[in-house]
Amino acid sequence: MAGLFITATDTEVGKTVITGAIAAALRGRGCDVGVMKPVASGGVADRMGNIMAEDAAFLMQAAGIDSEESRLVNPVCLAPALTPAVAAAISGVTINIQDFITSFQQLTQLHNPVIVEGVGGIVAPLWKKYTVADLMAELALPVIVVVRPNLGTINHTVLTVEYGRSRGLDIAGIIINGWKQDHAGILETSNEEYIKEMTGLPILGKFPYAPGISVPKGKTAGLAQLAEEHLQMDAIIEVIRGRKEL
Ligand SMILES: Nc1ncnc2c1ncn2[C@@H]1O[C@H](COP(=O)(O)OP(=O)(O)O)[C@@H](O)[C@H]1O
Ligand SMILES: [Mg+2]
Repeated sequence: MAGLFITATDTEVGKTVITGAIAAALRGRGCDVGVMKPVASGGVADRMGNIMAEDAAFLMQAAGIDSEESRLVNPVCLAPALTPAVAAAISGVTINIQDFITSFQQLTQLHNPVIVEGVGGIVAPLWKKYTVADLMAELALPVIVVVRPNLGTINHTVLTVEYGRSRGLDIAGIIINGWKQDHAGILETSNEEYIKEMTGLPILGKFPYAPGISVPKGKTAGLAQLAEEHLQMDAIIEVIRGRKEL
């Protein structure tokens, strides 16, 4: 099964935008790509009272996935904007990790590859003491870490990469999101250099701040082109492919 897991140094760093951008670019190249957001919190109720995950809606739109698949794409959506383990507990919901694995396996029967967006950062608790890193290990997917361009990012990035490695995860590269080329000075360029040097990982792209893209507003137009221009899509495909057929 070919796939990829997208994590980040924190919440709100750009996991959804980058997962959507990679999915849109793969779709543009003719791949039947699938997407997954195993658990979302901070879901909002639609007019029918169903709790909807913005992230899943954005990813499905970017990848061109039919709404019939939404239960597989996002098996668990919780209303409180809290880490999933706590959001579930206070909502009286029991999270069964096996559901995530089963849904992922079903998605791989329908699509190839399947790109999975994590939740928060690498050690966000999903259920009791089971974290995002545990899920990454169980799914056995290569991992890309999305990071910020600004102050503090060296520390967050190196900690995330080293923790992932300590768990035996296949951390394949870094994507810097929210890059503003016209404003990139010593801070941004030295951050990029330090991150490369200290992690020994490739920077698989610097994705620009693009005001036309929005997760809450469901704006995905132009994502594929931005990904082709600013992400190293060939290298990302190599990561996904590993020894697997794509
Ligand atoms: N490159 C970008 N250009 C414009 N807006 C962005 C970009 N990356 C993220 N955003 C916005 O910033 C917010 C956080 O991004 P998101 O991808 O949802 O982060 P995460 O999934 O890590 O929580 C969203 O509102 C999203 O629309
Ligand atoms: Mg997200």
